[in-house]
Amino acid sequence: MRLASSNIFMLVILCNLILFISLTVYINTKCPFIATTLNIHTSYSSLADGWNPIGHTLDEQNLLHDMSIVVAAWPENAEDNIPTVPCLSADGHLLVLSVGASRIRYGVSVTFITVYPTDMKTVLPKNISSHPLSSNQQSLWCIFSDGSVTPVYTYDSKYGNDRVSLLDCPLSQFAKDQLWKLNQTIQVYLASTTTKDRKIPILKAFVNVPIGSVTSSNSSQESFTLCTSPLHNKGKYLVQWIEFHRLVGFSKFVIYNTTDTDDYLSTIINIYTQKYPDLVDVVQWNFSTLGLVDAISSRYFQVEALHDCLIRYGDQSEWLGMIDLDEYIVPLHPYTTIVDYVHENFGRRIIGSINLRSQFFCSKNSDSYTAEENDANRLTIERFRFRARNLYESGREKYLYRPRFVQYLSIHQQLVGLSKEQPSENHITLAHYISMSQPRTMSGCGTNEYVKDTSIRDRFAHRVKNAIATLMNKH
Ligand SMILES: *[C@@H]1O[C@H](CO)[C@@H](O)[C@H](O)[C@H]1NC(C)=O
Ligand SMILES: *[C@@H]1O[C@H](CO)[C@@H](O)[C@H](O)[C@H]1NC(C)=O
Ligand SMILES: *[C@@H]1O[C@H](CO)[C@@H](O)[C@H](O)[C@H]1NC(C)=O
Ligand SMILES: *[C@@H]1O[C@H](CO)[C@@H](O)[C@H](O)[C@H]1NC(C)=O
Ligand SMILES: *[C@@H]1O[C@H](CO)[C@@H](O)[C@H](O)[C@H]1NC(C)=O
Repeated sequence: MRLASSNIFMLVILCNLILFISLTVYINTKCPFIATTLNIHTSYSSLADGWNPIGHTLDEQNLLHDMSIVVAAWPENAEDNIPTVPCLSADGHLLVLSVGASRIRYGVSVTFITVYPTDMKTVLPKNISSHPLSSNQQSLWCIFSDGSVTPVYTYDSKYGNDRVSLLDCPLSQFAKDQLWKLNQTIQVYLASTTTKDRKIPILKAFVNVPIGSVTSSNSSQESFTLCTSPLHNKGKYLVQWIEFHRLVGFSKFVIYNTTDTDDYLSTIINIYTQKYPDLVDVVQWNFSTLGLVDAISSRYFQVEALHDCLIRYGDQSEWLGMIDLDEYIVPLHPYTTIVDYVHENFGRRIIGSINLRSQFFCSKNSDSYTAEENDANRLTIERFRFRARNLYESGREKYLYRPRFVQYLSIHQQLVGLSKEQPSENHITLAHYISMSQPRTMSGCGTNEYVKDTSIRDRFAHRVKNAIATLMNKH
């Protein structure tokens, strides 16, 4: 299930090397990728000069040239019958869930989050037949609405049950200006020159960037963003989770909303929007129109959501995490906020992530709740008073990422990026209330294994309740 640690070590070395080289190239050229405008008025022969994207052939160049002219001629908002993300591409080879743009990713990139190629058949409705090529077997290109073209770089990774498949293409200067200077939505087309008979792009996407909505918290200049895993009807646990994490310094919350959420979520979001504008964003993470199911149903494209969060919010967040609503990131004495902890211990050091090891809070009996544990009027941090004696260390950790230094993630790992830090377990912990929504047992939670621990409750419950009261107070 897991890579041998020596492999991971090699991977990290390799990636640092690649990063270093890319950085050097970037500094030397100020442009890590080659982007060229294929202008209708440019003569074809002059086009070839200086246009040297990776892996192109003359045939492809002709095809792309024609396609980019077609695209540039389409009026804005044209109904062009090309599928729009989220969608299956017109040639059936790519299933794309979302798209985002980032200034800190490989210079400036637009990233398509796609379903891992061999998973496509599993997750698509049975009546769609397709024989997906993996993206690195295809020759893919981004075409922007002025006709500029950039090459697509591909990444497919399988890490246990976690699979991720991303396409990155550099933004052309035109697209960059539209997005950030003019803060407009851009239209980007994905073209494939894998089959020579296609005359038009295989899909299109609309991309925009969140506008300066992450504010840094008071105690430092850094901004901290927390994304939820796809939500699955756990809305009733949301407010206390947000208010707790607000108290410890997070300044932006992003809710990944699936199909199976109830109206209560909308009520909460409305309250937040009125009371604290820009604190909470909702990302629709349902693909019901496509009839998609996740290969692992309880996760509902969680690894893809994690990358969506990284790409969408990475630009604005010095630190970013994605955790479940039964997980709480807790600063320990002498720290009162995560901001102070991170600031004092890591400052501006170049690291990819801080490892947060889970500390399981157990139910007293593995198959039923005590009266206290069952009391829905209590906060999650009040209900559970027993925890596993030792930190659970095998693969259940989560991370606080530094988005500018990481590229690829899995749920419990940072796969590619700069060094991971193991913080002192005396300073920060990830309290994991495993039985929050149903009694569960985990290692360390067996009879006589757990210890009583009310420290989080004692430190925070009162303040969280006050914060909730303030939030709900309509005046
Ligand atoms: C697949 O079947 C469902 C229901 O039977 C239908 O709604 C959908 O349009 C079909 N999809 C395709 C691509 O034929
Ligand atoms: C967005 O762009 C418009 C001009 O198109 C500008 O007036 C406005 O200030 C911009 N908003 C932000 C938040 O940058
Ligand atoms: C941040 O500072 C402002 C103004 O000084 C204050 O009103 C606000 O309560 C502070 N927020 C936090 C989370 O401390
Ligand atoms: C969450 O998603 C559901 C279904 O996709 C939708 O009905 C609901 O309005 C969404 N809630 C919010 C707060 O966006
Ligand atoms: C998400 O859910 C909403 C409301 O149920 C629906 O209108 C929308 O089409 C869904 N989006 C996708 C991509 O399935």
